[in-house]
Amino acid sequence: MDSEKVAIFDTTLRDGEQSPGCSMFLTEKIGMARQLELLGVDVIEAGFPIASEGDFRSVRAVARECQTARIAALARTTEDDVIRAGEALRPAARSRIHTFVATSDIHLEFKLKKTRKDVIEMTRRAVKVASSLADEVEFSAEDATRSDVDFLCEVFQTAVDSGATVLNVPDTVGYALPSEFADLIRSIKSRVVGERGLTISVHCHNDLGLAVANSLAAIEAGARQVECTVNGIGERAGNAALEEVVMAAAVRADKIGISTNIDSRKLYETSQMLSSVISFGVQPNKAIVGRNAFAHEAGIHQHGVLSNPLCYEIMTPESVGVPSNDIVLGKHSGRHALVSRFASLGYSFDPEEINELYSRFSELADRKKKIYDQDLIALLPGRTPVAIAA
Ligand code: KIV
Ligand code: ZN
Repeated sequence: MDSEKVAIFDTTLRDGEQSPGCSMFLTEKIGMARQLELLGVDVIEAGFPIASEGDFRSVRAVARECQTARIAALARTTEDDVIRAGEALRPAARSRIHTFVATSDIHLEFKLKKTRKDVIEMTRRAVKVASSLADEVEFSAEDATRSDVDFLCEVFQTAVDSGATVLNVPDTVGYALPSEFADLIRSIKSRVVGERGLTISVHCHNDLGLAVANSLAAIEAGARQVECTVNGIGERAGNAALEEVVMAAAVRADKIGISTNIDSRKLYETSQMLSSVISFGVQPNKAIVGRNAFAHEAGIHQHGVLSNPLCYEIMTPESVGVPSNDIVLGKHSGRHALVSRFASLGYSFDPEEINELYSRFSELADRKKKIYDQDLIALLPGRTPVAIAA
């Protein structure tokens, strides 16, 4: 029997892009969106159209470019925001307006200066307008995990009654623990009802390093959409890392029992592509896509892995698209090895470029003992890889 699917909602271009060092040019956003579609994400949140003219244009361009993924645009619960999001999404083959308002008392009192009644009314109006401007409406209760649960469910019920079909539960400040987050998801699922099928979504921040754990706990409790970003980029300590959620679900399918539409063999190239367009790469020990994720240094580990990789590897490097480490690039490597490693990262060159590139590479190899993929990409400032087809 096929396992149930969890939709992957990628917010690299919105929540990811709004964090320091992560801003992207329009062409880079379009390139990333193409790669995310090849990766198999279900929804791409392309931006927050009212925030700036640039964001509006990016959402428009991504909406025009992508044909398979659903394109989402963020909007607060004001009419202007929602209308602007609807305009930006007009060219989309499949559109979703994602509207949000805070529900915790601390946000109501100090940020919004609104009453609970105001929030209910804002939700009702925004979702109604959004339903007339996009194929689907997602509603998020910002700071859900610090909200009074009775009020939270009342707001969610209002959103559903006004036309929302996706209810997102953000752990905006990364405060929840996995067991309590799972309880919250179960409670919302049992208390909020809709005539049409409702999808419960989660959006976890990583302030306590629990974003992925909380997302997985929520899936076990019945959430069927996870919002995440490539390399876990995002506000403050970031969002749940897409590659970690996807691989935890794949490797522990025995326990979690769901699947995703992600082609895991494209995870590494997607991670590398993002690193090349923002101003930092991933930490070396980052799960799944860090440069040490499949490196074995200790003799005892090397011996075990050579006898049987399963001794120390719970997934193969190939399953996440990490290029085979048979070829170690260094000062003795030739043009062929260099060009082939670049090809695996999504770059191709004409013959003159190769000579020029090779001399820059040789200079670097004289100075540096180990050349990593990130060092290679740094040899090509300003250049974006083409999305790598299957
Ligand atoms: O973290 C958050 O609460 C958000 C919402 C806009 C979904 O990013
Ligand atoms: Zn967020």
